[in-house]
Amino acid sequence: MDSPHKRKCLSSNLFFLFLLLSSNLLTLFFSTTYYSSCSLNPTTNTATNTATTVITTGSIISDPAAKNSDVQVSDNSQTPSDLPPEFIAFTSPQKLPFGVNRNFDSDKLLPPVGRPCTLFPDELRHYMSYKVNGSCPDDELLAQKLLLKGCEPLPRRRCRPAAAQEYVEPYPLPDSFWSTPSDSSVVWTAYTCKNYLCLINRVHNQKGFDDCKDCFDLQGIEKTRWAGSKSGGGLDFTIDEVLAVKKPGTIRIGLDIGGGVATFAIRMRERNITVVTTSMNLNGPFNNFIASRGVVPLYISISRRLPFFDNTLDIVHSMHVLSNWIPTTLLHFLFFDIYRVLRPGGLFWLDHFFCVDEQLEEVYAPLINSIGFNKVKWIIGRKLDRGPELREMYLSALLEKPLQNSW
Ligand SMILES: *[C@@H]1O[C@H](CO)[C@@H](O)[C@H](O)[C@H]1NC(C)=O
Ligand SMILES: *[C@@H]1O[C@H](CO)[C@@H](O)[C@H](O)[C@H]1NC(C)=O
Repeated sequence: MDSPHKRKCLSSNLFFLFLLLSSNLLTLFFSTTYYSSCSLNPTTNTATNTATTVITTGSIISDPAAKNSDVQVSDNSQTPSDLPPEFIAFTSPQKLPFGVNRNFDSDKLLPPVGRPCTLFPDELRHYMSYKVNGSCPDDELLAQKLLLKGCEPLPRRRCRPAAAQEYVEPYPLPDSFWSTPSDSSVVWTAYTCKNYLCLINRVHNQKGFDDCKDCFDLQGIEKTRWAGSKSGGGLDFTIDEVLAVKKPGTIRIGLDIGGGVATFAIRMRERNITVVTTSMNLNGPFNNFIASRGVVPLYISISRRLPFFDNTLDIVHSMHVLSNWIPTTLLHFLFFDIYRVLRPGGLFWLDHFFCVDEQLEEVYAPLINSIGFNKVKWIIGRKLDRGPELREMYLSALLEKPLQNSW
């Protein structure tokens, strides 16, 4: 009886050895190649800097000492002139007006943007070409691609975003929860559909893949998601069943990762629970729609460190998004981050994670187990929507961060 167990241990040990090696190799790779070739050297760009500082009050500095001390020097495989002046203006060290600040332990600020931004100088140049205090280019598609490639946070700051010509304000609460907002609350340029009716109907009319294809129809499947009181032991847990795991009222704040049109947050809101929803705008104005419904959208990708402090959230939920399309090392980082932001006793509801049959046993179950959650529910089922020949599996799990440190 103990040999299959041993084999499982061995395979999961091997797996983590692999993970460890690959993330170390990755670090080595980044530190040897990217750091040296792509970091900025602001000192050679002072001319362009001053040209773009129309709005700031002399806060952009050209510190000759920076070259030697705290700013990595370019090895000239990429000339700094590849990078747009507005990008350099924003990312260059900016001297604090009152000198060294003890909280920062520094006398300057280095405003953050995604390090990979500099790997895409052409796109970056398009993205950062605008008149300071003027209109931003209407280029959401380009912006989102740049962000998804790792240029996150995006560096655009000093222009005014495109807005609908005759913006219509949202419905008042609580009507906004379940009403389709006005088409005039959205800039449609980036999307195939140019109005909400088109988005609602695309599940019938449109072939091919679209993220959350059926979810703009609030009278459709959204109407029943997570509703009801009992799941009957299947993959579809209900919200009330999940909340019943904890003392009433102790789940108060949370996060939904990749939450579509935020129906999860709406249902939680109806229970007086505040949930923030991360979403991209993948061929649909998801962020606008979520905001119009009256809950908070957060425009961040799944690669990013979650913008919450340690041990703070009561619940993190994610449906369909965390799955085998995500590089395994990144998934490992992400699960750890969820563990980090959850308070002790907080819940991680991994809703319909999917992968191919043997991956679950070989890769993902050991990966999830290694994070250290308590298992409250763990349900595995077949995913048949794309046909049984793909041998896809679903996992729905309810995991709890232990109340006591186990390390
Ligand atoms: C910036 O733009 C606003 C709105 O268009 C305008 O009212 C303001 O005068 C501009 N400021 C400068 C310094 O150009
Ligand atoms: C939500 O909070 C309001 C105001 O405190 C209260 O009247 C209402 O009963 C609460 N609803 C639920 C479902 O707990």
